[in-house]
Amino acid sequence: MEKLTIALAKGRPAKNTIDLLQSAGIYFKDFHEKSRKLVFYNADQSIKLIFVKAVDVPTYVERGAADIGIVGKDNILESQAKVYELLDLDLGKCKFAVAGYADFRPDFNQKLTVATKYPNVAKRFFGQKGQSIETVKLNGSVELAPLIGLAEVIVDIVETGSTLKENGLTVLEDIEKISTRLIVNQASFATKAQEVKHFIEKLKEALESASCKS
Ligand code: PRP
Repeated sequence: MEKLTIALAKGRPAKNTIDLLQSAGIYFKDFHEKSRKLVFYNADQSIKLIFVKAVDVPTYVERGAADIGIVGKDNILESQAKVYELLDLDLGKCKFAVAGYADFRPDFNQKLTVATKYPNVAKRFFGQKGQSIETVKLNGSVELAPLIGLAEVIVDIVETGSTLKENGLTVLEDIEKISTRLIVNQASFATKAQEVKHFIEKLKEALESASCKS
């Protein structure tokens, strides 16, 4: 019977995470990138890997449906889930930023309209600065919002910067660095302490040996 359930975010960093798990000696032999399967087991069936949408990983972990989650810091921050964040996998590196037209100057006496997939992150960032905002929640193509007057600025992920550049926008302010993190359910951290620690140690060793090689 499985001892640990790991929720892994589908999408960009999933393959890299699977490679990292493999170098830590944890194999999911049925896994391949194009598979539509959502549940995989390691060789001795002690670890169950479930693939979920990145935005849902913190919920699975907070509610104990998974003991461990591997997901971007962006989704952890936005979810505000009560989980322990214990390891930075150093994958999927990017940042949260405020972006808009280079000549944009905010009027601090007016509410700023901010389009974003991450309204909680935007509210917290501007709240700390004392700037009141109205968020426009979008689910993608956020860069379009300033171009068509839906919002004055956006709060979004910037990786290479090419989406901003190709749409005539620029970073106005950095918010926070993002990368793939390992999170743990608070109850599992106590009740499955040995298994959780062992899993994290294996990943740490794999990360260290990968950084030695690079
Ligand atoms: C993300 C993000 C930016 C883009 C940043 O979008 O929301 O739009 O990537 O990457 P870049 O700096 O390398 O250009 P995603 O690709 O997830 O698509 P989406 O617009 O559907 O959200």
